[in-house]
Amino acid sequence: MSALSGAGLAKSLPGAAGAFLSLPTSETASPHAFQFAASVETLDPDKLKRYVDPLPIIEIARPAGTRSNPANPAEKLPFYRMVMSEIESSAHRDLKPARTWGFNGSSPGQVIEVQRGRGVLVEWVNDLPHRHLFTIDHKLMGAERDKPDVRSVVHLHGAKVPPESDGYPESWFLPGKSSICHYPNLQDPCTLWYHDHAMGINRLNIYAGLLGLYIIRDEVEDALDLPRGEYEVPLVLCDRKFSEDGQLMYDVSPNPDAPWISEFYGNATLVNGKLFPYLEVKPARYRFRMLNGSNAQFFNLTLSSGEPIAMIGTDQGLLPAPVPAKIVPLGPGERADLVIDFSKSSGQQLTLKIGPVEEIMQFRVARGRSTGGSFPERLRPVVPISETSAVRTRELTLREYKSPKGESMTMLLGGAHWDMPVTETPTLDTVEIWSLINLTEDVHPIHLHLVRFQILDRRPFDQFHYFMKGELKYLGAPLPPDPREAGWKDTVSAHPQMVTRIIARFEGYAGRYVWHCHILEHEDNEMMRPFEVLGAGT
Ligand code: C2O
Ligand code: CU
Ligand code: CU
Repeated sequence: MSALSGAGLAKSLPGAAGAFLSLPTSETASPHAFQFAASVETLDPDKLKRYVDPLPIIEIARPAGTRSNPANPAEKLPFYRMVMSEIESSAHRDLKPARTWGFNGSSPGQVIEVQRGRGVLVEWVNDLPHRHLFTIDHKLMGAERDKPDVRSVVHLHGAKVPPESDGYPESWFLPGKSSICHYPNLQDPCTLWYHDHAMGINRLNIYAGLLGLYIIRDEVEDALDLPRGEYEVPLVLCDRKFSEDGQLMYDVSPNPDAPWISEFYGNATLVNGKLFPYLEVKPARYRFRMLNGSNAQFFNLTLSSGEPIAMIGTDQGLLPAPVPAKIVPLGPGERADLVIDFSKSSGQQLTLKIGPVEEIMQFRVARGRSTGGSFPERLRPVVPISETSAVRTRELTLREYKSPKGESMTMLLGGAHWDMPVTETPTLDTVEIWSLINLTEDVHPIHLHLVRFQILDRRPFDQFHYFMKGELKYLGAPLPPDPREAGWKDTVSAHPQMVTRIIARFEGYAGRYVWHCHILEHEDNEMMRPFEVLGAGT
């Protein structure tokens, strides 16, 4: 059966099959297949006509019914069914539809919207084909040849959930199977996102399209005068690369035995699945919930007008007060809650950029009288966790290991491989400081499951001295976090040659979780470690 569907796929893509399809199996794999990679032309998105497609507004998922809470059978909870399958989705009017993986027929998947304190059950259903869209590197931990190519497990990023519902990377399941997760939603309102987390192939599964948003609301936030309804628009940003005939391409290294690449960067940025979409807006304020769903790309969002954007929230919810920002930095996995005021731009066209020149979408402001209205000056208090409440500080290195030829081999956290014994074992309900000592030349967006944290500071240190002596010699004073990140976070940019300190209370549940770099290529090559929250008294 799989042989037949494989042939069918190859036929629909004349001459290009080897470039971005996975190799069938070890027996039939030949280095020859990789040579297609260089011969398939990459689409130059600048050749496409801009702003001809309307921005897709992502659908809200509807519960399929109710079911009993497994932890408390008397309680009935809304029950969602989210089906992962292969779909065709066109990124632009003039591009052929690309084979993509989505949830309930779309990528990004439907938005799940919930109320704080009202738990839900979600059945994640794997209805994917048996053949992967991209080349798997069987040398990576967890993706060995004895593992099936297509497998998935879904994690809700930023959610405080019991360990069995967290989507542990090794808890993947196959096409035809599903897994039911319980999300209690006992946390402040924020924009979370769900995505695949399967060990060793998570970069390929998310790149194929397995991601979507999950929004928690509550009455306190609803009572604030923030734009809502048609004035509240989620925007999911992902960088991609397409072939000239519109299919997704993912890069492979020149070495056919080790196709993993250390970072993927695309030349085409999708907004809600489209290239260069436009959105018609009224001369009013809009709230945009932004997610950077890219594998490795960092964005610096700006408006073409040069006007500041009001940043109202970060990963884990509202900031204490709006922060006017001419540039909104957004690393992989991070969210930004933004309010853009179009009330003085009646009849104009503005563009959103991700760098000094790169435009990604357009806002067409209708003519008319401003429907601006008031805007809150205070949002939600963020009480700092005091350093003195920490029972422990852990020093954890971020380190890259290179081959003699200078190629990146692997990156490790705390110098440990994934399968080494668990070393980070905070006790439930205690506060810890984690000092991330970045020994590499790159920024790593570090993410902890289960908890929200605050950034204490970043401090420059002497890398050379650390390599020689294994001790920290600081080169300057600690720098406090920027106001744009001075709220509750779950992903932090750990800058090179800096010690980044974060502080968290390990509350919610005892059990096994993970922390990792959110550059998906790093995560898939062991820049991920388990941690275990120990129940009080263990
Ligand atoms: Cu975005 Cu381990 O997650
Ligand atoms: Cu997560
Ligand atoms: Cu990294």
